[in-house]
Amino acid sequence: MKLLALALAATLTAAHAQQPLAPTGRWSHQPVGTAPTPPMGWSSWNAFRVDITEQKVLDSARVIVDSGLAGAGYRSINVDDGWWLKRRTGDGRMLVRTGLFPSAATGGANVSSLRPFTDKIHAMGLKAGLYTDIGRNACSQAYDADSPNLPEGTQAEREVGLMGFVDRDIALYFNEWNFDYLKVDGCGLSSYGRDRPHVASGQYREFTPTLVEGSVNQSDVAGTKKLYEGLKQALRRARPSNDYVLSVCLWGTANVRSWGQEEGTMWRTSRDIANTFSQMVHNFDTVATREFYAGPGRWNDPDMLEVGNGDFDGGHLLEARTHMSLWAIAAAPLMIGTDLSRASPAIIDILKAPEVVAINQDPAGHQGVIAYADSDREILVKTLADGPNGGRKAVLLFNRTSQPTKITLTAEHLKMAAGAPIALRDAWARADAGSFTGSKVFELQPREALLFTATGKHVLPRGYYVSERPADLYVARDGIRALEQDPVVYRALASWSATDNGGTRPAYAGWGAPRADSTPYDQALSVRRQAFRHGIGVLADSRLQVKVPAGARRFVASVGVDDSTRGMTAAVSFELWGDGRRLASTPPMKFNQPARELSADLHGVQLIELIARQHGADTAGPVVVTWGEARVE
Ligand code: GAL
Repeated sequence: MKLLALALAATLTAAHAQQPLAPTGRWSHQPVGTAPTPPMGWSSWNAFRVDITEQKVLDSARVIVDSGLAGAGYRSINVDDGWWLKRRTGDGRMLVRTGLFPSAATGGANVSSLRPFTDKIHAMGLKAGLYTDIGRNACSQAYDADSPNLPEGTQAEREVGLMGFVDRDIALYFNEWNFDYLKVDGCGLSSYGRDRPHVASGQYREFTPTLVEGSVNQSDVAGTKKLYEGLKQALRRARPSNDYVLSVCLWGTANVRSWGQEEGTMWRTSRDIANTFSQMVHNFDTVATREFYAGPGRWNDPDMLEVGNGDFDGGHLLEARTHMSLWAIAAAPLMIGTDLSRASPAIIDILKAPEVVAINQDPAGHQGVIAYADSDREILVKTLADGPNGGRKAVLLFNRTSQPTKITLTAEHLKMAAGAPIALRDAWARADAGSFTGSKVFELQPREALLFTATGKHVLPRGYYVSERPADLYVARDGIRALEQDPVVYRALASWSATDNGGTRPAYAGWGAPRADSTPYDQALSVRRQAFRHGIGVLADSRLQVKVPAGARRFVASVGVDDSTRGMTAAVSFELWGDGRRLASTPPMKFNQPARELSADLHGVQLIELIARQHGADTAGPVVVTWGEARVE
């Protein structure tokens, strides 16, 4: 009987893989680890690079506790690259560089344990994090060649990454050493090709790159995902309680921006942050359009904070606040990256800012949605747990430039009624900031971001737009056929790059993914010249799952092929499913046909699935469709 059930389940899964548009009737996201709100903590990398010691880590941990940062939520103390000595010959056990981590010297030369370290961290009421690589070798071995702290020994002993040792290492890190958090980098897949000097010299074993920064087509997307899938399974075996965080560090490559939610608790969407304003903005841009990929248990990661460093140090408090405000509205993980033993009280206060952190940690877990953007000015709005309808939202106004500017905030940006007052509260000043009706003009200093919570009357008499609650939506199928680089990322020159070598162009796949209040290609939503300010833009052959709150009565949308479509001949039909039952559908619709209303009763329904089914190929390209004014009433 059990076998029969298993066989049936396998057949259903196989059938489902072949019919990706078939509704499942249940929320498909299965969290990896536990992180109901964005993870918070401190990491050694931005502060010390590979120059870490146990003492430096403990000093920052001490400040975390004593300064109240732990109380504010920063709990995970993460040791990044640089802790390892070698992999022991014979049994492959990882050894710690005890010269740097003295408490790890628990026996002779060939014995070490990070358990005394994690015990100290846990005794402080904190959690402990560690770093490794999915390949055979790590990043420092490729990029910090001059460091005296690189792994030692034979070629095999210097293979400190997970490849070939997943179960062994995971059991060691999570069961024996008792870590709570693991960051898993990808240099082992990208930086050990035969052309590299450290490979040519015989120092490290060759690994033909399966990850190519700058080209998703040259990267083995499925193979990379599979490695993280194996890691996830090992973690589930080691920690059946699911009580951990898995941070996937692939710098936005290999389409991880789309599949990271299936294999990790959080995943980097971009290359490394640096302590320059332009690099920080670049990293922010790589999450800002990924609102439908984050939510409780799954977080887009624009990288660790640089608050306290460089352009965001004690002499640049305005920039430090801007950096924090952007990470807050984006519901990004907050990992402090500065040497806290030297941080000024003003920097600590910025990291601690209770109302700013509260916006980041809001339990609904919605990422802020872009309500307005040009190259200079940006407005993002984040629905908070107690909104909508008529509840509170957080709103960020951002001057990206080096000149003062003005930004007009309207009730429409907030999806609030234009005729009713909207009360603002300044999240930094922790003070009410008056109210306005209709619109209000703000003057912003160069590089300034203003962060408010806004309370007003929702523009809808009942319910809300689906685009306001991005965490309630799961992209089961995005409709993307050919992976393309996302062009809407600010082109900062990376601090380690130069203008004489072609630079480092943004090259993160995911272009064409569904968007809130925008088409997938960053155009305004419009069906046969009927414009929609609100809605969901997506490619055809997509399936979106949307959680519905108790008490919802109706779903309504105006659907059709978007005017900006690339494919202009294929027809698309729209289907609405509720808990696995078909509720409503349209006949096939084509470009330049007027939008049709698609609506259904939602009483008793918990999950709806929005399916846009394409009929036949379209040689001109993807068909862009719009769920205009999609709303739950
Ligand atoms: C990079 C990673 C950084 C840091 C570094 C360590 O690949 O993005 O955050 O972990 O490796 O060498």
